[in-house]
Amino acid sequence: MKRKVTKAVFPVAGLGTRFLPATKSIPKEIMTLVDRPLIQYAIDEARAAGITEFIFVTARGKSALEDYFDESPELETSLKKGNKTALLETLRNTYMDSGTIAYVRQNRALGLGHAVWCARRLVGDEPFAVILTDDVIAAEKPCLQQMAEAYAETGGNIVAAMEVAPEKASAYGVLDVAEDMGSLVRVKGMVEKPKMEDAPSNLAVIGRYILSPSVMQTLNRAKVGAGGEIQLTDAIAEEITAGNPVYGFRFRGHRFDCGSKAGFLQATVSFGLAREELRGEFEQYLHETIAVLKAAQ
Ligand code: UTP
Repeated sequence: MKRKVTKAVFPVAGLGTRFLPATKSIPKEIMTLVDRPLIQYAIDEARAAGITEFIFVTARGKSALEDYFDESPELETSLKKGNKTALLETLRNTYMDSGTIAYVRQNRALGLGHAVWCARRLVGDEPFAVILTDDVIAAEKPCLQQMAEAYAETGGNIVAAMEVAPEKASAYGVLDVAEDMGSLVRVKGMVEKPKMEDAPSNLAVIGRYILSPSVMQTLNRAKVGAGGEIQLTDAIAEEITAGNPVYGFRFRGHRFDCGSKAGFLQATVSFGLAREELRGEFEQYLHETIAVLKAAQ
């Protein structure tokens, strides 16, 4: 049986403290890589994976994010007048059809697990995807699409996974692998932010998930985990205890951690270089900058 996932939850209610002071008034998800907000990358990836219902878990101070998907008649008129068809197309790609997008509120930032749980009524009794907009993935085939294809075969729960250096594992949820099947691994446990010596593998979970609705029932019990937050990793780990399959998926692509400043800068360079209209000038600038730096050293 082929299984389809049509709903995606975007938890965007975090405080974004690593980007203060910018995030005092701008939602992190609106910050741009070149000229597109992080949220646009996430939406495009979800669409490519066949998602038709987009559920945002928002919070106070995120109205710019909600406005982003609205139609802009004034801008349209101005672009039409100026015959700017390419820009008009870019603008229209940001529109979301009425009824396809829903917002729920997380009143307090109690953790990622809690944010996902806030969407429980909209998700209902269906499998659903979770996308963290902080993780931007450059890939030939969008990461969630790769996962949706794997999920069609396996069902269960799938988390995106990537290999990390041992000293980096403590920043992630880490998989305890029961069976390695290549791009898929069957998971027998998950640990959130383990100490380096306690990490059960070098496979870290990153921000793409396809989950079964029973994860919501586990989150109902609201157990507080690492860092005093309600952790999504803990709820997924309970799936394993309950005998439901959980798989790690080694996606093909490069993930940028745009929740950190260093990751955001790296993504800006890579996405800048990927743009044909910028490449020549930008590449030259980077070469010159590096040459000057080397000379100074
Ligand atoms: P982070 O751990 O990156 O937290 O959340 P954050 O608040 O966004 O950023 P920092 O660490 O303060 O800089 C990972 C994802 O989970 C969401 C965030 O919006 C982000 O997409 N999240 C986290 C929530 O929606 N609610 C929460 O309570 C916590």
